[in-house]
Amino acid sequence: MNVYDSNRIAAILRQLGYMEASTFRSADLIILNTCHIREKAAEKVFSDLGRIEQIKKERAAEGLDTVIGVCGCVVQAEDEQIAKRAPYVDFATGPLTYHRLPEILAKVARNRGITVIDTEFPAESKFDFLPAGKSQGGCSFLAIQEGCNNFCTYCVVPYTRGIETSRPVEDVLKEARRLVDEGTLEINLLGQNVNSYHGEDASGKERSLAYLLQRLHEIDGLRRIRYTTSYPADVTDELIACHRDLPKLMPYLHLPVQSGSDSILKAMNRRHTAGQYLEIIGKLKAANPRLGFSSDFIVGFPGETDADFEATLNLVRQVGFIQAFSFKYSRRAGTPAALMPGQIEEKVKKERLDILQNLLFSYQLKFNKDSVGKIMPVLFEIKGRHKGQLIGRTPYMQNLHAELDNNNLNRIVSVRVTDATTNSLSGVMEG
Ligand code: 5AD
Ligand code: SF4
Repeated sequence: MNVYDSNRIAAILRQLGYMEASTFRSADLIILNTCHIREKAAEKVFSDLGRIEQIKKERAAEGLDTVIGVCGCVVQAEDEQIAKRAPYVDFATGPLTYHRLPEILAKVARNRGITVIDTEFPAESKFDFLPAGKSQGGCSFLAIQEGCNNFCTYCVVPYTRGIETSRPVEDVLKEARRLVDEGTLEINLLGQNVNSYHGEDASGKERSLAYLLQRLHEIDGLRRIRYTTSYPADVTDELIACHRDLPKLMPYLHLPVQSGSDSILKAMNRRHTAGQYLEIIGKLKAANPRLGFSSDFIVGFPGETDADFEATLNLVRQVGFIQAFSFKYSRRAGTPAALMPGQIEEKVKKERLDILQNLLFSYQLKFNKDSVGKIMPVLFEIKGRHKGQLIGRTPYMQNLHAELDNNNLNRIVSVRVTDATTNSLSGVMEG
């Protein structure tokens, strides 16, 4: 979502006449787009800002003015603290108000030396004010939903991105058609809880994600559709049927479970048990046996016992995720879990994370190794580190390297997989 927001911020700035600078040193305006989800990400903002302040000073010595801005969820959470901790920051705006950048920059120009802060939860939707979403190459993100009403007890998102809102169906379709006209082959629909999508259609009727997927599927020239991130309890039968009926929908689903222990899931305020999660996975597999799953996990949530952790490992063994993201629980101020008894020692969290990641990586490696010898359609997105090498994605979101001419960039090419590691595949063009 932050990559998507950053692209939209760049589009606003382009409209104001800004151009991309190749180095920090040559930039008149530097914006950090920030993440508050875990402490590590949030604290990194302040160390990065320290380095940027240095650049501001060096440029000032040469008579150059530098405007420093901070966007994103850290701003929403820290609010006035940003100006206290980093007074050299010229403006700070939350994830729901960055469409006001033109006004904010004008205010900054009028008031050099003070920090302009906008952390309102605005009545208007930023999407109504942003310049048209631009294709990001062969693959584009498209935000369709924002915010979350789930209030998992460890999570800051409902406080930083606000309550759940969905963009109207026609707005999404219009943006998707424009992206495809500009060369996008794959669209990844984004939202913090994307499968709770309930945008209005032209007649004012609320529509589901399944309906939206069906409509997007009709767009000529669009070859691949993905959506992320889903909430297990909101996976409907209608959505499951899409995985059977819509060939453009890629056979990969990111469905965070967080834990395999029912008592931890309850303490997390998740609206599903481990058994219900497995049931949903079973239904999805029955609808489309080619589906591969990925997930998010948190270890060391307050009160997590060895037996709870073992239940998580068991769930992993039952699903055999083809990819996963796993984190040590991070105590976030203002969330209910931060005040829960039974906070787990760092050492235990680390031990559990290592064990979980080793298990997850073993499944990921096995899936990748099983891909060797297969022919897969790969959408090449970027140039590799070596000359003549391109990097793309398989339908299962695996990174694949191949020796290919640059004219294959932003195209889907048939590739025979020749080699695999835990994190990537290599292959050769077929035919
Ligand atoms: N500590 C650790 N991980 C967290 N996540 C969200 N909040 C926290 C937290 N406080 C993880 C969840 C979520 C992913 C985006 O980040 O696994 O699915
Ligand atoms: Fe956070 Fe996801 Fe839970 Fe919403 S569903 S509160 S975004 S972890």
